[in-house]
Amino acid sequence: MSNHLQLSFVNFKKGAYIMMEGREDTDRFFIIRQGKVRIFKKVEVVAEGRGNILGPGDFFGVITAMSSHNHIETAQALTDSVLISVRKDQYVALIQNNTPVAMKIILQFSQRMRYLDEVLTRLTLKNLAEDHPAHLYDVGEYYAARNQYNQAYYAYHQYIMYCPQGEKVQTARGQMMKMAPYVNGLQFSFGPEESTRSYGRDTMIFSEAEPGDELYIIRKGAVKIVKIVDNQEVLLAVLKEGDIFGEMALLESKLRSASAVAYEDCELLAINRINFERMVGTQPQIIARLTTLLSERIWFIYKQLANTLIKNPLGRMYDALLIQLEKNRVSMKNFGRYTFDFGPQELLNMVGLSGTEGNAVLWKLLENRRINVLEDKLQVEDISEIQRQTEYYRKLQGFEKARHAADRRA
Ligand code: CMP
Repeated sequence: MSNHLQLSFVNFKKGAYIMMEGREDTDRFFIIRQGKVRIFKKVEVVAEGRGNILGPGDFFGVITAMSSHNHIETAQALTDSVLISVRKDQYVALIQNNTPVAMKIILQFSQRMRYLDEVLTRLTLKNLAEDHPAHLYDVGEYYAARNQYNQAYYAYHQYIMYCPQGEKVQTARGQMMKMAPYVNGLQFSFGPEESTRSYGRDTMIFSEAEPGDELYIIRKGAVKIVKIVDNQEVLLAVLKEGDIFGEMALLESKLRSASAVAYEDCELLAINRINFERMVGTQPQIIARLTTLLSERIWFIYKQLANTLIKNPLGRMYDALLIQLEKNRVSMKNFGRYTFDFGPQELLNMVGLSGTEGNAVLWKLLENRRINVLEDKLQVEDISEIQRQTEYYRKLQGFEKARHAADRRA
């Protein structure tokens, strides 16, 4: 990677397209120097606060450049514009030379991620988790009812700490006493110098709804990110060595948006706010990594959001499979067999189907002779089949939309 920042200026005439949704030319992103740029998607899934007209100082294309996925948006110059073009391998140099821009990017990403997480849970599960430390008590109750004492004990403990006047404090204490004999390895506070932390499998690292001013880098092991919505534990992600989490509460000074639980024994490096600000200047590669991770998460969540809009449930299943192929960077040019790392039940969860409806759609999917289940994992004989089917349902939906529009005009 180059340490010298060589930025190039690019001019675009009014009306010119700067990037196109779906294309893969994603080795650079742009910062606007002069002019106005409009950003839009084929299907606008959610209204976004930032608006879709950008001006000087704003940036775009970072998500796809840093995650190396195809473009999720189109950008068009609304006026004659001058843009600063940054190649993605120059991002580290950009951070070194211009810390405020890097901070602005990750802060905006964190806010976008929080917003999109909320929209997605609202669309798929209807009910939003509460954004108040009193919600810690509900987290405790959820795990206590399932005999997951480590998690329950931790959440009750934090509830008492952050809501000492809370009306459930006595009950929480009683619960903690009952489960104390079954709890092991929990840690509640660390000295400021203790930046390396070890957690045994199934220990809560932090709970959703508690304040937090540290982020973590996984040195060893794996961590799962979960959230309780509508009395169900939703698995948001399983993170591995080298991954970073807990940045959202730190960057935005808000409550933890989800819980982190050790999925295996793990070792973490904890970074508090002061060290984080110092690192931005001294270890820009970590900030670059954080931007990449946030970009990948945002890319994935956009795809999931667009998936919820597909009306035909079988079409939604094919699209969910295609997203997984894209996420795992499976080349579509390769026509071979592919085994997914999940089975039919997980696929049903992904598209929000269950019960008899779910089974009926699954049955239809498996009627396709190119799709099988092998040792509880889905397998496709030829990956181009997934792309073909997804295209078919996208077209079908396009036709239906056009027909409805025509019916309304008639
Ligand atoms: P924070 O809100 O501090 O605490 C929970 C963390 O989980 C959050 O920061 C992110 O690091 C991470 N997180 C939240 N939502 C997701 C998601 N959809 N996918 C992966 N990680 C997430």
